[in-house]
Amino acid sequence: MNDTQVGIIGTGFYVPDKVLSNQDLEKMVETSDEWIVTRTGIKERRIAAADQATSDLAFEAAKKAIANAGLAAEDIDLIIVATVTPDKFFPATAVILQEKLGARKAAAFDLSAACSGFIYGLATASNFISTGMYRHALVIGADVLSRITDYTDRNTSILFGDGAGAAVLGRVPKGRGFRSFVLGADGSGGELLQLEGGGSRCPSSVESVQQGRHYLRMNGKEVFKFAVRVMDSASEEALRKAGLEKTDIDLLVPHQANIRIIQSALERLELSKDKCVINVDRYGNVSAASIPIALAEAVEQGKVHEGDRLLFVGFGGGLTWGASVLVW
Ligand code: ACO
Repeated sequence: MNDTQVGIIGTGFYVPDKVLSNQDLEKMVETSDEWIVTRTGIKERRIAAADQATSDLAFEAAKKAIANAGLAAEDIDLIIVATVTPDKFFPATAVILQEKLGARKAAAFDLSAACSGFIYGLATASNFISTGMYRHALVIGADVLSRITDYTDRNTSILFGDGAGAAVLGRVPKGRGFRSFVLGADGSGGELLQLEGGGSRCPSSVESVQQGRHYLRMNGKEVFKFAVRVMDSASEEALRKAGLEKTDIDLLVPHQANIRIIQSALERLELSKDKCVINVDRYGNVSAASIPIALAEAVEQGKVHEGDRLLFVGFGGGLTWGASVLVW
């Protein structure tokens, strides 16, 4: 990376009010609170109201992040929304959000990298700022996974929730800011986690809907193995690129997919639980929103201090992964 210091100068998050508990799910599919908690660590997740789309959740998170940065919407030069559940195919959710915010000067586009989307977005925005093209970028992870979840499928319905997290990026004093980025993809694993219906290969039709192809499908076991492997390798690479050791990490902010995946990362990094943000029990897997919600919540709770070395790491459909080291 060059000398220009780019960092996060504001954060915010939003989750819908409606709670879907494991007890609620027990009434919908053949499962139990005990099974879900043991296998995933999830106790409840949030579900968007019928009239809430991804841009509505993103809007609430973005407003808070912009205010937290001490900026106005007109100060934002770039908006990136990482999502797999856009409001529509097009216009992009980022452009819908630009209008809602009144961020008239901002360029805006969506980024599709599933649960890794927020880290991909941070890397993209950070580079726009370090080249001098833009001053302030708004990066949002937002998803309404409840709209693509099959609530008759116990393999997936227990995992996902809805929400949005946002970060404003800008220049920061020397010694702070992003120290490394690692982004990866392996398309050979694409079929392990996908939504086929409605795309150009499988356009929406009565048949595609009858076959449930408008829902997310996942091979959980294989994704689990991939996740454990890649959380480890991506974390190590991000630390190496930043010139840091495991012992230098003050706070791990991992993708919140499954407590067992997070625990495995903690073991490999030899970190204690108090050095990790964990909210998977309350929000489930919120895809691209998971890491920025975890970060914004930790900031709000006073768990992030100036000079702290943060490690972000996540994985998702694609398959994709990403990690980043940031000095707060
Ligand atoms: N309740 C009760 N039993 C269940 C449930 C359920 N909700 N779901 C599955 N089972 C059953 C299975 O049918 C299976 O029964 P069988 O042995 O008779 O066939 C048994 O429980 C064990 O199932 P496994 O799939 O082996 O369970 P596992 O321990 O692997 O846990 C889980 C499943 C939680 C999905 C896990 O594999 C996982 O977390 N994988 C990673 C998923 C993930 O992170 N996905 C998100 C990626 S990010 C993104 O891009 C959106």
